[in-house]
Amino acid sequence: MALAPYDSPLNQTTTKATHARKIQDVRVIQWTLRLRIRKEIMEAKDTVKYGIVGVGMMGREHLINLHHLRSEGVAVVCIADPHLPSQQLAQELAHSFNWPIKVYSGHQELLDSGLCDVVVVSTPNMTHFQILMDIINHPKPHHVLVEKPLCTTVVDCQKVYHYLY
Ligand SMILES: NC(=O)c1ccc[n+]([C@@H]2O[C@H](COP(=O)([O-])OP(=O)(O)OC[C@H]3O[C@@H](n4cnc5c(N)ncnc54)[C@H](O)[C@@H]3O)[C@@H](O)[C@H]2O)c1
Repeated sequence: MALAPYDSPLNQTTTKATHARKIQDVRVIQWTLRLRIRKEIMEAKDTVKYGIVGVGMMGREHLINLHHLRSEGVAVVCIADPHLPSQQLAQELAHSFNWPIKVYSGHQELLDSGLCDVVVVSTPNMTHFQILMDIINHPKPHHVLVEKPLCTTVVDCQKVYHYLY
């Protein structure tokens, strides 16, 4: 007995339309799920908050570089610098990134604010040792990124190393 030729449902006009609708429905569901998962991830992910001490040339460079990482949950929330023009330039940059930042004139105020998880130290070399020791001795622990050089003498570098390890 000869078999009837296979008539795929996709070859039937009405079924084709239904099939297309189903594909569209599945795509909509997939996108909705993706968006929901992304939203949940974004909400669950804590922002890593940075503070920058010294916003001269390198400090502002760090501000720009951290802005490039904004989609990874990074934000600069505060800066400390006693020099008004440096403060203003950094504030203008942060403003252009839509980052509302707190401005302090010294690192101790920035640390005491408790606003940041990470401190970037980009002040002149001879200030690194004292700022690092103040960060190490502060009741709130911070991650630190310090511009090179770590300190200006081997003895000071060893002291920092000793306090950390
Ligand atoms: N410029 C470079 O190409 C370069 C490259 C690599 C590393 N670095 C290092 O980066 C650090 C900063 O260099 P820079 O070129 O940005 O200097 P800079 O003079 O442009 O900026 C230093 C900033 O620190 C501020 N400052 C001074 N004392 C301070 C304090 N106690 N607390 C807070 N802020 C204070 C100053 O007001 C100024 O705004 C230095 O350690 C330097 O060796 C610089």
